Amino acid sequence: MRVLVTGAAGFIGSNFVQLLLEERPDTKIAILDALTYAGNLSTIERFRSSPNVRFFPGKIQDPTVVRGILEAEQITHIVNFAAESHNDRSLLESGSFIQTDVAGVHTLLEATRDHGLEKMVHVSTDEVYGTIDVGMFTESSPIEPNTPYSASKAGGDLQVRAHHITFRTPALITRGGNNYGPWQYPEKLIPFFVTRLIDGKKVPVYGEGNQVREWIHVLDHCTGILAALERGKPGEVYNIGDVNERRNMEVVKILLEETGRGEDLVKRIPDPRKGAHDKRYSMSADKARSELDWAPTHPFEESLRATVRWYSDNQDWWRAITAREDFQGFIRRFYGPSLGDDL
Ligand code: NAD
Ligand code: DAU
Repeated sequence: MRVLVTGAAGFIGSNFVQLLLEERPDTKIAILDALTYAGNLSTIERFRSSPNVRFFPGKIQDPTVVRGILEAEQITHIVNFAAESHNDRSLLESGSFIQTDVAGVHTLLEATRDHGLEKMVHVSTDEVYGTIDVGMFTESSPIEPNTPYSASKAGGDLQVRAHHITFRTPALITRGGNNYGPWQYPEKLIPFFVTRLIDGKKVPVYGEGNQVREWIHVLDHCTGILAALERGKPGEVYNIGDVNERRNMEVVKILLEETGRGEDLVKRIPDPRKGAHDKRYSMSADKARSELDWAPTHPFEESLRATVRWYSDNQDWWRAITAREDFQGFIRRFYGPSLGDDL
């Protein structure tokens, strides 16, 4: 297999490349990544010099770049992780989300069809289903996204669906729950809070922190994506979720315990997501379990505590990011009004 992995200088894509190198050592991997604020060469330093990995800087929505790599590397499969991925940033600016998450997916689909690739896996999210008060989403639930980010991901998913129906392009979709684990850019709830708690800074909980997220360890998500790459059927959708539903404050309590900090560091702020703050995510992954022969293996609380320790042990990696002006500028702009002196 010769795989183009896009967005692999980010959180999940880099974990996926590491998994491929360990579990499928014969695979040749080309990485295409635009190195946006969320993509870092330091994240892929650990395997960049592997003889099985080649790195190409560039955007997935650039057909010349994509086609050049497919030809030069004789690519047979694509796994697309590249995306603008943060809900909060999509409240400030959403044009780049449309460019990458919709137009970029379209470019990859056209290239998959025109180059006769064997399969393209498009990595999507449970957020395309919107929010659910009771019960669980299945793959046939309606697509009802509520934020500019999740609407852009839904746009990409619909391009995949239409391309498969119209042209029989061999593409499929995976939809993951909230990931946690090593190498996550420190703007998302868990790494943002852990890195601030390590420094004794206050952590901003939106509203009462009663929203529910369904958490999956990044390596479980990655084994699900690998199963879809190897055994998934084109045209299908597979939910890749674990059953770890937790209110945000339940997660925060574990983070406080593991960093040895107290509730005095929790600051409840007016919810910046307002109406766009989905109350609960919950998905059935029965289809992936039965049709892909896949199952998650990471127990939540133990793996979350191990994740906290990873951020504590790998401070050089995240401090190089949080020291940057682009990171601090976002934090000032987004949290400044509510955190004030606690910024
Ligand atoms: P991330 O923000 O950590 O990484 C995204 C990567 O894509 C970065 O390396 C960035 O440089 C790259 N990128 C952005 N725009 C690009 C472009 N136009 N061309 C090429 N590269 C580009 O994201 P993540 O958390 O690793 O998420 C990866 C994928 O998984 C996304 O599609 C996301 O929607 C999906 N997903 C994420 C989660 C989660 O909890 N993080 C859950 C389910 C699904
Ligand atoms: O469900 C999958 C999605 O999970 C992915 O598609 C997204 O790419 C990923 O970012 C994540 O989206 P969320 O918006 O759920 O994740 P985030 O970590 O940003 O927020 C998780 C919850 O924590 C959410 O209810 C908002 C809350 N939160 C978040 C931050 C950053 C806070 O209370 N305070 C914060 O500072």
